[in-house]
Amino acid sequence: MHIFKDVKSYSKWRESIDTSVGFVPTMGCLHAGHSFLVQNSVKENENTVVSIFVNPTQFGPNEDFEKYPRTIDDDIRLLEETGCSAVFLPYNKMMYDNPKVFVDVDELDEMLCGEKRPGHFKGVLTVVAKLFNIIRPTRAYFGEKDYQQFVIINKMVKDLFFELEMRMIPIVREKDGLALSSRNRYLCEEHRKHAVILSEIIRFAQENCFEGMKITEAYKMIRNKFLENIPDFMKVDYVDIRNGNDFRFEDNITRDSRIFLAIYCGETRLIDNGKIL
Ligand code: PAJ
Repeated sequence: MHIFKDVKSYSKWRESIDTSVGFVPTMGCLHAGHSFLVQNSVKENENTVVSIFVNPTQFGPNEDFEKYPRTIDDDIRLLEETGCSAVFLPYNKMMYDNPKVFVDVDELDEMLCGEKRPGHFKGVLTVVAKLFNIIRPTRAYFGEKDYQQFVIINKMVKDLFFELEMRMIPIVREKDGLALSSRNRYLCEEHRKHAVILSEIIRFAQENCFEGMKITEAYKMIRNKFLENIPDFMKVDYVDIRNGNDFRFEDNITRDSRIFLAIYCGETRLIDNGKIL
């Protein structure tokens, strides 16, 4: 497996390849959710490139950029086992050398994580656009876990005419339903036990909502069953049912409805989402 730390050496390798390149951008601290993206890419492409870069511009001033877990040796070992061809490990100064140009999105970032984390998606789009230009992938792989991120990047690819195929890969979960996330390792035993509430709410919505049901009714059910007795260390950032294509509110459950959740478990902000019908 090749390891590249700068654009020049990567480009040299990229130019020597005329077969397909699958690309999985990550921030490291890799887990089975990331591996699943890599496996999907390895199946579909001759070569798979994974980037590991904790992108400072997508973290807010009071967020966990400094303490975001960095486990590079374990990550490289895991990628070697998964059949990845090359890892790209850029450094801050190279990605952001006195930057003046950024990529941003209208409307799609005005709700959910975009509303709660101002500037987050601008940081994500900017780094992903840079990485797409450096890596020059045939296909790029993203997780459904960050569904809003996928929709926004997909729109960037269309609007800015990036020549690549976007793939969204299903969420990998723990046995009890908790979506795998690099941030799960922040959770103490008690918080970890209660973190399962996010996936339980999704499952409950999937089992109890029906086409045409009033969404206010769905909220009432979720509130009564889950949110009224939530432990003190958990704080709901949002629990929202929206149209999955453009995130607009609707009055009734439709085939496009999705439930989106962000809940603090102590200091740790967990997100999850799922299609309802
Ligand atoms: P990161 O959180 O490391 O996630 C990298 C990719 O793994 C994302 O596409 C994410 O949706 C996917 N992923 C995370 N947990 C998953 C799970 N349980 N099942 C399936 N896929 C999962 O998302 C980012 O990094 C950054 O914003 C990035 C796109 C790299 C830009 O900096």
